[in-house]
Amino acid sequence: MFVSSIVLALATVSASPVQTPITLKLTKQSTLGLENLAASTRSSINRFSSDSKSEPLQNVQNVFYQANVTVGNGQVLTVDLDTGSSDVWFRGSTCTSSDGSCNGNKVDITDSSLKSTGKTFSTTYGSGSVSGNIYTGSVGVAGAVAQNLPFGVSTQEKGFNGVADGLLGLGFNSISQISQTMGSPANWFDALGYTGSQNQFSFYLSAAADGDNGEITIGGTDPSKYSGNINWLPLNSETYWQFDASQMKYKAGGKSGNVGAWFRNNAISDTGTTLIIMNNAQADAINSGIGAQPFNSTAGIYYIDCGLAKTGVPLEFSFPSFTMSIPPAYYVLDNGDGTCISGVTRGAGFLTPTIFGDILTRAYYTVYDKANNRVGFAQAVHPH
Ligand SMILES: *[C@@H]1O[C@H](CO)[C@@H](O)[C@H](O)[C@H]1NC(C)=O
Ligand SMILES: *[C@@H]1O[C@H](CO)[C@@H](O)[C@H](O)[C@H]1NC(C)=O
Repeated sequence: MFVSSIVLALATVSASPVQTPITLKLTKQSTLGLENLAASTRSSINRFSSDSKSEPLQNVQNVFYQANVTVGNGQVLTVDLDTGSSDVWFRGSTCTSSDGSCNGNKVDITDSSLKSTGKTFSTTYGSGSVSGNIYTGSVGVAGAVAQNLPFGVSTQEKGFNGVADGLLGLGFNSISQISQTMGSPANWFDALGYTGSQNQFSFYLSAAADGDNGEITIGGTDPSKYSGNINWLPLNSETYWQFDASQMKYKAGGKSGNVGAWFRNNAISDTGTTLIIMNNAQADAINSGIGAQPFNSTAGIYYIDCGLAKTGVPLEFSFPSFTMSIPPAYYVLDNGDGTCISGVTRGAGFLTPTIFGDILTRAYYTVYDKANNRVGFAQAVHPH
């Protein structure tokens, strides 16, 4: 998700069917890291390179993706992994909300391995907000465990629909509220201590119709999930996974244009956002090009004929060195009630970047490379 308190507020991303959650991370805090894992844990994990590990992601109706995350002394929570924010938090037992966001599993803070810091946090996202208390403890995904990680335990939530039990942010430390409050890095991935070519993680997002799981690979890539080259874009800011979009062009049916032609020349890759979010004029042009209906301001989305998932045009985004083409099956989202919505919507402003959410990641396996401060896109391999 997009952390709206850091950059300008993003209008609520879209109406309820298409909200996605977020996650965050922490940095080297002590002797965290893989060397602390029990040998039995290490030997049971999948390895694509010497130390990479993969964890399945449950696809919730193409709207968001969540993983089992271990917390403290053997607790398991279902959490959204979010490259568009940088704090880690879990739902607390005293959580209150006005919209059902607190429904679901909660972290047990009576776990003696978790320590209160006496500090509080509060983070606002493009489509929700959370506040609560900061604890420290171990947080692991796929057996990659960060020890003594500062993370939030919510006492108030809004906009999270009670689906996932928290967020695990995989953005940079510079946009972490918890790091700022603690005065030290609180980034989950950094805390794992990967170095060199393993200082990266990668996402494969499944398509609901294919019935398979998504996957995060930590410390490498999973070559079975992509084909061809990985095309790299250098980051121009270590906040979000943000890159220059001033030369980016779009093409959708008869409509084409230069995305960077306005003031806002950046884009981010955000697994915690469902849709692709662009400025209003660009979103209007693209939706006209793919045959979607005009923007519905009541619903906050563009409706599109579900049949276009099979017969529609590809949606292309081009950079000077490569072009990505999203097939209609990935940008026509089925609401399950006979209506479908377009995967591109309004919401980016003059100073906020284009947000490439799950619509793009489903089509393009995405590598988040901290060794080289770049993000890579390769054609995702789906079972069908
Ligand atoms: C999480 O763990 C439960 C219990 O082992 C399992 O049934 C479920 O499939 C797991 N979810 C994911 C996304 O791996
Ligand atoms: C806009 O969306 C609302 C809510 O889904 C719906 O009731 C209304 O019919 C839509 N309007 C148009 C013009 O499609």
